[in-house]
Amino acid sequence: MLKMKNNSSISRSGRFAREIDANVMKFTQSISFDRRLWRHDILGSLAHAAMLRKIGVLSTKEANAIAKGLKAIAREIEADKFKWKPALEDVHMNIEAELTKRVPAGAKLHTARSRNDQVALDVRLWLRDEIILLLGEIGGLQRALVSLGEKNADVLIPGYTHLQRAQPVYLAHHLLAYVEMLERDCERFWDCHSRVNVCPLGSGAIAGSTLPLDRVLVAKLLGFVDVDGKVQLTQNSMDAVSDRDFAVEFCAAGALLAVHLSRLAEDVILWAGAEFNFIKIADAYTTGSSLMPQKKNPDIAELTRGKTGRVFGNLMSLLTLLKGLPMTYNRDLQEDKERLFDTADTVRASTRLMAAMLRNTKINRAACAAAASDPALLATDLADYLVRKGMAFRTAHHVVGAVVALAEKTGKPLNQLTLAELQSIDKTFGRDALGVFNLKTAMAKRNLTGAPGTKEVAKQLARWREQLS
Ligand code: ARG
Repeated sequence: MLKMKNNSSISRSGRFAREIDANVMKFTQSISFDRRLWRHDILGSLAHAAMLRKIGVLSTKEANAIAKGLKAIAREIEADKFKWKPALEDVHMNIEAELTKRVPAGAKLHTARSRNDQVALDVRLWLRDEIILLLGEIGGLQRALVSLGEKNADVLIPGYTHLQRAQPVYLAHHLLAYVEMLERDCERFWDCHSRVNVCPLGSGAIAGSTLPLDRVLVAKLLGFVDVDGKVQLTQNSMDAVSDRDFAVEFCAAGALLAVHLSRLAEDVILWAGAEFNFIKIADAYTTGSSLMPQKKNPDIAELTRGKTGRVFGNLMSLLTLLKGLPMTYNRDLQEDKERLFDTADTVRASTRLMAAMLRNTKINRAACAAAASDPALLATDLADYLVRKGMAFRTAHHVVGAVVALAEKTGKPLNQLTLAELQSIDKTFGRDALGVFNLKTAMAKRNLTGAPGTKEVAKQLARWREQLS
């Protein structure tokens, strides 16, 4: 009988006369990074074995022995007692070789299965779980933002355009802007999830199998069903083994999430500086300088901002990896995993740490109040006042511009000008004009849907609290 050499790569069939060169092994192996797919690889194998038993390729005894063997291997990997062998290339062959060593029927497990559909399956299973975990972290960050807004519901700050003071807003309104962005991220990840959640097993290397596989059973066992319970199977074996669109989609959604996190990080960094001084991050969430003893740096936010670079890069790597590939599976595809893993790890950690930092951040109410009390922030309200009196907005804009210039010239804040001074610019100004500068009434007036009015922001905070609970 033909015997396989111990430890030889099981992908090297009888046609190979020699063992693989050590440098080639190093270059081609993926076990150093794809071993993290072990749990999903074993789940896939358990489902495949159950199906092979149903169609009569495995006896019940063989199927049970395989399941037992795979579960024992899972326990050893979990306990860090499993010996991974680079000579066996990847996670799929490491597990299968060890199984076959212990359970002879393991040699039947690869029936009608190729590593091409196996790896597509494993990555989909892994990413499906990863998306759920990430969605949990994003929810956590949204809750941290809502809580910070609720705890400081009465705090006003200047809203900025061009990083110049523009109009007053509730701090909560500013924070809820990020909650909205993150909600869109969640929608994108859910959308991506629906395309990840499709079972490719049964596609074989490229062309399915001549054996009567039960693809539906495998898909059901592995939970490849949509929200209506409909089984999701890939419909073209060639596409199924070479499709990595779902990985690109995840990395694209991850890149946009990273953009949002980076923008939030940038605000936090600005606000933590002495020039703004709006917030104080707890000591445990800042770091010191090795030279300047007074420094407390917002490193979590800075690293979150900095890590966007690699997340963008991962997306670009995947797109480039795929663009020239002829059909179908090509070994190039092995390069997808590290990029995908890195995006998943990076955005999950950044989201988690940003949330933890915000839960440990206090608002400096006095500094916020001082900044928000700048009467220039209400110059637009003064123009609206003139509009209410019947003036065309373009004229009102011009008139208030002249008022601002006069205030600058006389060295007075806008709200300290006298009625006579206002009327020297335009007679439309009445006694009630200076009432515009009452910040409280000014905020009460901004009640359009989506505006930072007192009632509207309270309503939005309540809506999010409800939605995120
Ligand atoms: N390690 C490989 C990968 O990640 C598994 C598939 C290998 N398939 C093959 N035909 N060599 O893509």
